[in-house]
Amino acid sequence: MIVLGVESSCDETGVGVVDLAADGTVTILADKVASSMQEHARFGGVVPEIASRAHLEQMGPVMRAALAEAGVARPDAVAATVGPGLAGALLVGASAAKAYAAAWDVPFYGVNHLGGHVAVANLEGDPLPHSVALLVSGGHTQLLEVEAVGRPMRELGSTLDDAAGEAYDKVARLLGLGYPGGPVIDRLARLGDPAAVAFPRGLTKRVDEERGHRHDFSFSGLKTAVARYVEAAEREGRVISVEDVCASFQEAVCDVLTLKAVRACQDTGAGVLLLGGGVAANSRLRELAQERCAAAGIELRVPRFSLCTDNGVMIAALAAQLIHEGAGPSELTVGTDPSLEVEIPLVGA
Ligand code: KG4
Ligand code: ZN
Repeated sequence: MIVLGVESSCDETGVGVVDLAADGTVTILADKVASSMQEHARFGGVVPEIASRAHLEQMGPVMRAALAEAGVARPDAVAATVGPGLAGALLVGASAAKAYAAAWDVPFYGVNHLGGHVAVANLEGDPLPHSVALLVSGGHTQLLEVEAVGRPMRELGSTLDDAAGEAYDKVARLLGLGYPGGPVIDRLARLGDPAAVAFPRGLTKRVDEERGHRHDFSFSGLKTAVARYVEAAEREGRVISVEDVCASFQEAVCDVLTLKAVRACQDTGAGVLLLGGGVAANSRLRELAQERCAAAGIELRVPRFSLCTDNGVMIAALAAQLIHEGAGPSELTVGTDPSLEVEIPLVGA
């Protein structure tokens, strides 16, 4: 059975095609993504209206390219992200997917974007067992408890302010390093001293725990601390080492992310930590996660980069798993939901 997935929740227009075998095995046939990232560069972050317009322009071309790559004229089912994400962006992709499903006369599955990030784990190894997923990108920073791919997930914690990738982008902007900030900070950080500046670790104090933020994150204080540090140096005429600032900032982010992720595994008894999202590309995050998981006897799974960032395959993979388990399709009248809960893998069935 051929399942096609459409992703449009942020700035990537993705169409993926997978083959679902009778035994539940899922194979990737096509993975096409167009990103509007460069159109957002001069604003230092994703501009929703620009993203929506770019989805509209890219949907047709990306769809045709994916069908051609897969050698498929008409899939057996069409899935799309219906949430969470940017309202306008979601609408473009989900409406297009429904229109294709109607025109092809095949069932439509409206699925959860975050469930898609987790579903890619099954494409590259044994089916994901009980685990914790740390999803970190420009749009999300979440710790989720996962029973298995396609099952309702449980949110253990999330960011109270900026997403991890957003913090990278904002710090890069204030250091004049351009957009997106993650890759350039990652590169410069390797040349600096991570202990040069003691930047704050958000929500790691005992009082934060008492307030119920054991599994939550906060990066806006860190971003402000970097800004203060740079301003003070300028005022006092000191030359700062951009490499040291990058390394110290990166260490603060990765320290908190991995500390809380490993703790979430221990709290839930999960034996596996899964990383996802664009920030999963970060070299220090991977290194520290590996180190701390090994020390705690936890298996770390990091999908290849193209499956960590937003793409259509993840949506097709989640829908394929749901179909394999016997889930019925969504009504074509199902709406999009920018703040769709992680407990809902499939909407409107
Ligand atoms: O998953 P993604 O492509 O989608 C959106 O959120 O749109 O993630 C992009 C984010 C950006 O904030 C970018 O700065 C960050 O991921 N990123 C990184 C790295 N590569 C990308 N952050 C840290 N280190 C990296 N190597
Ligand atoms: Zn995402």
